[in-house]
Amino acid sequence: MQPEQRHAPLAEAVRRYAEDKIIRFHMPGHKGGGQISPLAEEILGKKLYELDITGVEGMDDLLQPTGIIKAAEKLLAQAFGAKESFFLINGTSSGLQALILTVCGAGDKILVPRNMHKSMIAGVVLSGAKPIFLAPEINEEFGIALGITTEQLNSAWEAHPEAKAALLINPTYYGTSCDLGSLAEITHRYERPLLVDEAHGPHFYFHPALPPGALTVGADACAQGAHKTLTSLTQSSWLHIQGARLDLERLRTALTMLLSTSASYLLLASLDLARQQMVQNGRVLLDRTIELANKLRRELKKIAGLIVLDPKQLGQEAACRLDPTKVTVNVRRLGLTGQQVELALRYKHGIQVELADLNNVLFMVGPGNNADDISALVDAFRTIAKAYNGKKSKTGNFTIPPLPRQVMTPREAFFAPTISVNLSEAVGRISTETVTCYPPGIPILCPGEEISAAVTQYIALMIEEGYRVQGPRDNRLIKLRVVKE
Ligand SMILES: Cc1ncc(COP(=O)(O)O)c(C=O)c1O
Repeated sequence: MQPEQRHAPLAEAVRRYAEDKIIRFHMPGHKGGGQISPLAEEILGKKLYELDITGVEGMDDLLQPTGIIKAAEKLLAQAFGAKESFFLINGTSSGLQALILTVCGAGDKILVPRNMHKSMIAGVVLSGAKPIFLAPEINEEFGIALGITTEQLNSAWEAHPEAKAALLINPTYYGTSCDLGSLAEITHRYERPLLVDEAHGPHFYFHPALPPGALTVGADACAQGAHKTLTSLTQSSWLHIQGARLDLERLRTALTMLLSTSASYLLLASLDLARQQMVQNGRVLLDRTIELANKLRRELKKIAGLIVLDPKQLGQEAACRLDPTKVTVNVRRLGLTGQQVELALRYKHGIQVELADLNNVLFMVGPGNNADDISALVDAFRTIAKAYNGKKSKTGNFTIPPLPRQVMTPREAFFAPTISVNLSEAVGRISTETVTCYPPGIPILCPGEEISAAVTQYIALMIEEGYRVQGPRDNRLIKLRVVKE
């Protein structure tokens, strides 16, 4: 470890500013906590307000860093072996959108997986890009979407060699990881960049038992949710670049358009500290985290009625590795849905899961967990399983309708005049909304696509079967917004 990595220059400067008791005639209005309500002090504490500063003299500017932010970003790049790294205070979402705006203008093609995060759809709308969708592989037993195969990406590049980039998700929310190195190699044959949504993988760089990080296997850029699997505050993320395939000036400009001009120094300081912590102590923290997650996995496997996702169960090219810190448990054999288990864990056992869908509950084990958390969860599952095992199970089988015809780009659909119509009247119209069913978390409809009878029937069936269907403004799914003719 380089000795400078022991420091957190940005966080240390924030502390100094608070300790120096500067008289503040600048934003934010609370002036370091001088005028906060007693309830605010009781709930959030004065210290938080003292540290909540803004880009005043000596504190640099996130959008054009030259001082402490630049120094902290340099340390971040060094820690990840990146050419350049950026702090993000609007989540990983803003990093993905900046990447899309960097590589695509209006009408440019970009290869993206169909189960892309909604922030990518927003990026496609902002840029005017034309998404070329790649269908992710599905694991039928768990009903989850995996990654993309080399064959799929190869065919997509062959069919669309003029596309500007491929933007893939790795790992998935459920922690499955694909052969990203080969996908980077394929993309580079077309002299295009491979961009990676690595929202769930910033910890990969700090432990050899984890799948390889995107930068390690040749990706040109990745956006990471430091707040998701490391210890920075919610909403704080990172973006890393390597190589020369991206126009860095354009990326910087895109970031200035997407990031707030009033960056929270609490978020920035927490990013600086998360980097410092991981470089200094990441291996030990992750040893412990992986051990806890593996213990959880072992114990849950012993409980009749539960199926725990493990790499052997996957055996698919698009999911050749699994992040052990993500523990996905299929509860269908208990006769319960994932959502029912989520509620039982929360309200009867005081445990909150990360995600629940029809079939599964997902637990993210992180550096902040301990052995007692694991025991509590295993005990809770034993109680739940005892009460329910053997009852009739609900099936999670589904056959997704064929990809709809793309009639407009998502941007054209976004800016078109819209009206709301009943689902039954929507056939033949162009959707301005995204509709996603969980499982498997893949949009069956994106903005700009023609709504087929198969799609409306599928949506109706999913609702009837109790699947979670998300996206449209009318969350009862009675009406869809479509382009007005
Ligand atoms: C796969 C994936 N990509 C991107 C994001 C967006 O990240 P953020 O919430 O930090 O903006 C998420 C958020 O859950 C995600 O799961």
